[in-house]
Amino acid sequence: MSDDPARLIEAALAVRLNAYAPYSHFLVGAAIEAEDGQIYAGCNVENVTFGLTRCAEQVAVARAVSEGARRFRRIAIATDADPPAVPCGMCRQVLVEFCEDLEILLVNTQGAIRRERLQALLPGAFRPADLLEREPRP
Ligand code: THU
Repeated sequence: MSDDPARLIEAALAVRLNAYAPYSHFLVGAAIEAEDGQIYAGCNVENVTFGLTRCAEQVAVARAVSEGARRFRRIAIATDADPPAVPCGMCRQVLVEFCEDLEILLVNTQGAIRRERLQALLPGAFRPADLLEREPRP
């Protein structure tokens, strides 16, 4: 794999244009790179009930997992916010399900790139091991 994130960022910016966001008008694109280099992209999909809205990151992860990918190297998240927007709390928790840590590239349409780490954005997370590695109950 190449360390150059250009392809991943391009995928996040491209899928952002498919965002269905008639209520917020806030278009988000996310592209997550699996360990084998495969890229899975998703955009936010809003709903008139608001509460059923799905964030771009969650859609990208769902697409990846549906295709059999569960181990990831990094994710790019694209908005037009300046500075680039960070993922919401729910999305951080969705990422933690599959990644102990993850590089997060926050980008915007103006070309800014901010590098973050999942561990820094969600310290002290409730993790799969917290359930799966418990002592068996008596
Ligand atoms: N949104 C995302 O797609 N990802 C986030 O991490 C934050 C918020 C979407 C949800 C909604 O469609 C719009 O941005 C405004 O909140």
